[in-house]
Amino acid sequence: MTQPTSGNHKGVIFSGMRPTGLLHLGNYMGALQNWVTLQQDYNCIYCAVDIHALTTVESPDETESIKPNIGDMVLDWLAAGVDPEKSIVFVQSHVPEVMTLHTLLSMVTPLGWLTRVPTFKDKVRQMHETEETVNYGLVGYPVLQTADIILYKADTVPVGQDQVPHIELSREIVRRFNNLFGETFPEPQAKLTEAPLLVGLDGQNKMSKTLDNHLDLAATPEETTKRVLTAFTDPERVRREIPGRPEVCNIYSLHKIFSSAKATQTVYEECTTAQRGCVDCKRHIADSINDYLKELRERREDFKARPGYVQEILHEGGKKARAIAKETMAEVYEKMGLG
Ligand code: TRP
Ligand code: SF4
Repeated sequence: MTQPTSGNHKGVIFSGMRPTGLLHLGNYMGALQNWVTLQQDYNCIYCAVDIHALTTVESPDETESIKPNIGDMVLDWLAAGVDPEKSIVFVQSHVPEVMTLHTLLSMVTPLGWLTRVPTFKDKVRQMHETEETVNYGLVGYPVLQTADIILYKADTVPVGQDQVPHIELSREIVRRFNNLFGETFPEPQAKLTEAPLLVGLDGQNKMSKTLDNHLDLAATPEETTKRVLTAFTDPERVRREIPGRPEVCNIYSLHKIFSSAKATQTVYEECTTAQRGCVDCKRHIADSINDYLKELRERREDFKARPGYVQEILHEGGKKARAIAKETMAEVYEKMGLG
């Protein structure tokens, strides 16, 4: 069960996203689109990781938003083409076995491995905490992530570059577990997307909701155009008559992804000769993006209009996930001398 082959020897993919609500174009290009494609060659399991979301809550309204955020996010998944007939789509907390496995894996995870992880250090700093005051749950974040993956004996984990240290840690935990208790879990392998990193409307940072430089997948075409019109372009092009420099302009990078090769060529020529203004250029890229997202948005509206549709899918997904989880946990109990 390691190679993506045909027939019944497909590899098992697991991936998860924290339920932060509506997804944006960066999430789509960086992860979601890949999730959809991987369904052809793997058995895929996609999870809304609501317990992970609790590692960083700071106020009650954040917990209140978890459920609606799951609904919004999963609608985006389905609209993008995550197919519940092919893949298991579920909510992390619907499979309580993951918390049992998390506890058991914590017995084979040295604390130093966890406090060394760069994402941990970043989070502690961001939350204005110290390693003394930070929640135990946040320290154990990668242990829970490991439990997510290996509970389903997944061997392949599509993630972004930032998550590679977590998957490395998962491999070390698995190695230790297998050494101590006998060969039980495959060592999961990170699978990076080749997708280009999408820069946000500020023209500087990776597209992100926190920086508010993003374009929501579920926005209307009008909203998308309005936001694109606020984007930064070549900062030296302060007047229409000054020729632009497409190579430093994020709108041009977006044309390269979302407009045709021919249109992109035209943008280059007209920009560098000052025949095209930035406002027109932005309207043009907004149209390309809206075209690109048209079908996704139609499907989303469709699914959204069906009462209880998302809940039903998550309910079914939860059942399938729990069935696998129960088998794995029986094996784990046996190997660890429990039960
Ligand atoms: N930590 C991941 C993130 O922040 C989310 C996640 C939780 C995940 N469990 C996972 C990703 C298991 C892949 C596999 O993006
Ligand atoms: Fe950027 Fe287009 Fe303006 Fe050129 S014309 S600087 S590519 S927005």
